[in-house]
Amino acid sequence: MKVTIYEVGPRDGLQNESVTVPVEVKREFVRRLAEAGLTTIEATSFVHPKWVPQLADAAELLADLPRAPGVRYPVLVPNERGLDRALDCARKHGGVTDIAIFGSATETFAQRNLNRTLESQFEMFAPVVERALAAGLRVRAYVSMCFADPWEGPVAPEQVARVGRRLLDLGCYELSLGDTIGVGTPGHVDALLDAFEDAGVGLDRLAVHFHDTYGQALANTLAALRRGITVVDASTGGIGGCPYAKSATGNLATEDLVWMLDGLGVETGVDVRSLAVTSLWLADILGRPSPSRVVQALAKEL
Ligand code: HMG
Ligand code: MG
Repeated sequence: MKVTIYEVGPRDGLQNESVTVPVEVKREFVRRLAEAGLTTIEATSFVHPKWVPQLADAAELLADLPRAPGVRYPVLVPNERGLDRALDCARKHGGVTDIAIFGSATETFAQRNLNRTLESQFEMFAPVVERALAAGLRVRAYVSMCFADPWEGPVAPEQVARVGRRLLDLGCYELSLGDTIGVGTPGHVDALLDAFEDAGVGLDRLAVHFHDTYGQALANTLAALRRGITVVDASTGGIGGCPYAKSATGNLATEDLVWMLDGLGVETGVDVRSLAVTSLWLADILGRPSPSRVVQALAKEL
């Protein structure tokens, strides 16, 4: 079995920091992640710079990223204006091969995160996907609030599957299931995957994206792997969150994931110690320790 790690630290992690990290630090962060063996590194977002000022330097960052063979740098794109900015970057500097749209399973979060209703988010995404595919880009989709939403409470798996299917049907190659506020448990994961199968979506089209608010992200990941999911989102050092869902904390730490997969004998090609060194370096810059237990344990021997 091989698991692909979809690293989101530079995007999901740094979008949620109270300080804006200088572009040179972001570039060094991404360089170190690639050097540790990660091959899919979500680098930044082309969202409205007023909505997420921490990532307003997206074009500057992408202008000069290390171009290692086989390493892809997906970027979040919510709308056509964001796509124009991404395509402009691709024209000037190359390197933009993958984008990701991000939808909401709930009405309230669609309005808070995208300033759109749940229904009108699809109208916003449809031309983005169409034009991105025509330009030769790959398009991933996220669906957020897969288990519960801070304003609406528990979310029915069938509702998530309906929204997720519509996002995939726009032409996306993969759908990442976001537990944005990190409240799910393995039973919820099974129920959600059942709902997708019932909706006719093959599990080979799905990835998982767990935030670790209640310490369940690794257990949830194992539940998903046991069902045959092979793409897992994670964030080096366990940084992350969503500025438009205050109860969201960091993502599953990439080190926690790699430690578990190494133990299971699952191939990832990623060096956990090298990642931990990077997390310790970044923690100094961010001024707070990594929440990852694996980083804390390795710190004693590094
Ligand atoms: P809006 O205010 O409705 O935008 O924001 P608009 O379409 O009405 O346009 C208003 C003005 O903004 C226009 O300028 C546009 O050109 C400009 P004007 O004509 O007035 O001068 N504009 C832009 N400028 C630069 N880049 C753009 C852009 N779009 C419009 N892309 C919008 C709508 C979607 C843009 C806004 O709501 C937004 O940026 N939201 C993003 C929020 C965000 O980034 N959240 C975090 C990421 S999602 C997440 O973390 C969850 C995930 O990790 C999975 C999980 O954990 O569940 C993925
Ligand atoms: Mg997230």
